[in-house]
Amino acid sequence: MPKRDFLKVSDFSAQEIEKLLELAAAMKSGQYDKKPLAGKTLAMVFTKSSTRTRVSFEVGAYQLGGNALFLSSRDLQLGRGEPIKDTARVLSRYVDGIMIRTFAHADVEELAHYSTVPVINGLTDFLHPCQALADVMTVREAFGTWEGKVVVWIGDGNNVANSWLNAAGVLGFELRLACPEGFEPNHDVYERADGVTTVSIHEDPEEAIQGAHVVNTDVWASMGQEGEADARKLAFKGYTVDESMMKLAAPDAIFPHCLPAHRGEEVTDEVIEGPQSRVFDQAENRLHAQRALMAVLMGGESVE
Ligand code: CP
Ligand code: NVA
Repeated sequence: MPKRDFLKVSDFSAQEIEKLLELAAAMKSGQYDKKPLAGKTLAMVFTKSSTRTRVSFEVGAYQLGGNALFLSSRDLQLGRGEPIKDTARVLSRYVDGIMIRTFAHADVEELAHYSTVPVINGLTDFLHPCQALADVMTVREAFGTWEGKVVVWIGDGNNVANSWLNAAGVLGFELRLACPEGFEPNHDVYERADGVTTVSIHEDPEEAIQGAHVVNTDVWASMGQEGEADARKLAFKGYTVDESMMKLAAPDAIFPHCLPAHRGEEVTDEVIEGPQSRVFDQAENRLHAQRALMAVLMGGESVE
């Protein structure tokens, strides 16, 4: 069987995501005791920092009977200029799957092209599809479904926003994005989602949030944009998710955030610590969604 990668949400169909999240839910509830990764190793290549992605993949691989290697670009020859295509072919001779977090999405595509084992995108400047799996799992836990739900994204049209757009395009829920001019999500990703579900871009966050079921945001300066942080604070003035903004959403709205968060910038302490916040369930769901993903890509589980 040809190897299968997970570089973007749309690498899976809606039906496959449903099945994947059913498997994740079974794993979360303790109903799954198989060890599909027994004797297998996941290589985890990081050129950016991580808490959740690193720990959830490492623990998840262990729980499925396998092993995970943390490979920082500071230590790999990759960091000294060894080509990605060589790294891909060498790692493929040792391990059964590669997860990579890096800057350029094209680097992940190149790694996937040259690898003979499955490659998982653990975040690029463009996309964060593993986050999207945990996010939609969290929405389904809260409401039983994402069908008919309105998700709003307030802030930077970044990698996480692009992955929400991909998820909306595959799964069909409505997504509204409130972004300052110049900080909209990727145009092509937006256009693709626009063809299949209801998506819209607003400048006014209070307009976008009206009646929303899921109110989502992320940092204003992502990894690699630290030098722009001050300019971005000015550009995003008025985009802080606070209690008065949350009152405009549906009364039962939830607040997810991929974390890490900058309290007092994109979200207030009251909202992230408040009763509508789901941020720690969401962080936990990274573990379950990725265990399901590894079991499917590396361990022979099926989403047929
Ligand atoms: N949300 C997320 O990917 O967190 P880390 O950067 O800690 O992995
Ligand atoms: N947009 C953030 C997400 C971190 C998980 C970043 O890329 O830094």
